[in-house]
Amino acid sequence: YYIGIDLGTSAVKLLLMEESGKICNIVSREYPLFFPHPGWSEQKPEDWFAQSMEGMKELTKDIDRAQVAGIGFGGQMHGLVTLDKDDNVIRPAILWNDGRTGEETEYLNTVIGKDKLSQYTANIAFAGFTAPKILWMQKNEPENFKKVVKIMLPKDYLAYRLSGSFCTDVSDASGMLLLDVKNRCWSKEMLEICGITEEQLPKLYESWEVVGTLKPEIAKELGFSENVKVVAGAGDNAAAAVGTGTVGDGQCNISLGTSGTVFISSKNFGVDENNALHSFCHADGSYHLMGCMLSAASCNKWWAEEILQTKDFAAEQAPIQKLGENHVFFLPYLMGERSPHNNPDARGVFFGMSMDSTRADMTQAVLEGVAFGLRDSLEVARSLGIKIERTKICGGGAKSPLWKKIIANVMNLKVDVLENEEGPSMGGAMLAAVGCGAYPDVETIGKKFAKVVDTVEPDPELVAKYEERYQKFRTLYPAMKPLF
Ligand code: XUL
Repeated sequence: YYIGIDLGTSAVKLLLMEESGKICNIVSREYPLFFPHPGWSEQKPEDWFAQSMEGMKELTKDIDRAQVAGIGFGGQMHGLVTLDKDDNVIRPAILWNDGRTGEETEYLNTVIGKDKLSQYTANIAFAGFTAPKILWMQKNEPENFKKVVKIMLPKDYLAYRLSGSFCTDVSDASGMLLLDVKNRCWSKEMLEICGITEEQLPKLYESWEVVGTLKPEIAKELGFSENVKVVAGAGDNAAAAVGTGTVGDGQCNISLGTSGTVFISSKNFGVDENNALHSFCHADGSYHLMGCMLSAASCNKWWAEEILQTKDFAAEQAPIQKLGENHVFFLPYLMGERSPHNNPDARGVFFGMSMDSTRADMTQAVLEGVAFGLRDSLEVARSLGIKIERTKICGGGAKSPLWKKIIANVMNLKVDVLENEEGPSMGGAMLAAVGCGAYPDVETIGKKFAKVVDTVEPDPELVAKYEERYQKFRTLYPAMKPLF
């Protein structure tokens, strides 16, 4: 058996997989998310570890635990986890959707300069990236900063607690703005700019590489063998790409989780001129381009749970009939926005209501607003000459047939629906299977396991209607920008 741990923002999701790819069990455990100031977003690494341990026990309760061979991860990216000399967590982790680093991001992009950043790392600074958070901590919490002995990403904290190996992988490390993505090594220039040393950073691995085995006391607590291999794992988007078979060249995956991403795999290293898309290492040894929205399925969750006070998303979506004809728009910037606006101060907006607007129109606008936001990223890829005709899809939002239909038509993409849309947890387990030698490489297992069971085809009439709506949507952010 292989275990995939998807360390998400709302919960940790664990998946138990047989070598054949058969999913034996899935378990999910939640932990709190803290917003101590508007736009800030934090979690406690100790909660991640505690829930992952409990989750593994629950996940394997019906199997012979001695048969577990490997553990792999897909982790929420960019979060800053810092440990002191005694391995204590110094402060809560600052997450990928935290917007406190406006000033530091601005400093990096203008004083150091986007050209230099792009030359060193293949990316520019975005508020959620790790490097601006390090600068923030240095300036705002100097006492804490002095104590930092180890800097790591969220899933790396799990690997460290489980195996004692201070490690990360190149796909996740790409989102720190400290990695020379092209050469898959730390950027000396960036470490200097951030006032840190290589000793404070984890050792770099490819995502499928074994970083160690379980610590004896952990193996004992879980009832696993001490030989269980821990592999480095990947950032959740790269792990999701593995899980959905988005490997090899020019494949696309859309993730509709707390965040929304458009992920395009690429054999060759590439950067877009304005660095609007992230250029990161992939978990299969190659590269990828990615646009990331900070609020995707979370917009729908917020709208339904906070505002409409319901958890029955399907019932809310049932009355939606008039695709392409909705006059209400929603700007999905509830946590600011990353791609393509790079503005932590952006906020959500409903626009265009009239007396006859209904609750269903508003719900539809939320689903459409997220699809339009994803299209913003796809347009950048298209402007680079990348031809994408179809995409896979995963994440909680992908469970909605209506949302998939909206995405297919707004983006004019064929949406391939997979037998399982587990994404990162499946990818984590698959990386473990490769690390344990069950499969020769990530591309092979990715192509073998991802089975398309249905395709949502765009309808030309709806595509035309949505094209018109999208052109209007695009004008709303620039018009609102001065007000944010
Ligand atoms: C990607 C990103 C998000 C998180 C979500 O750049 O910030 O997709 O990885 O967990």
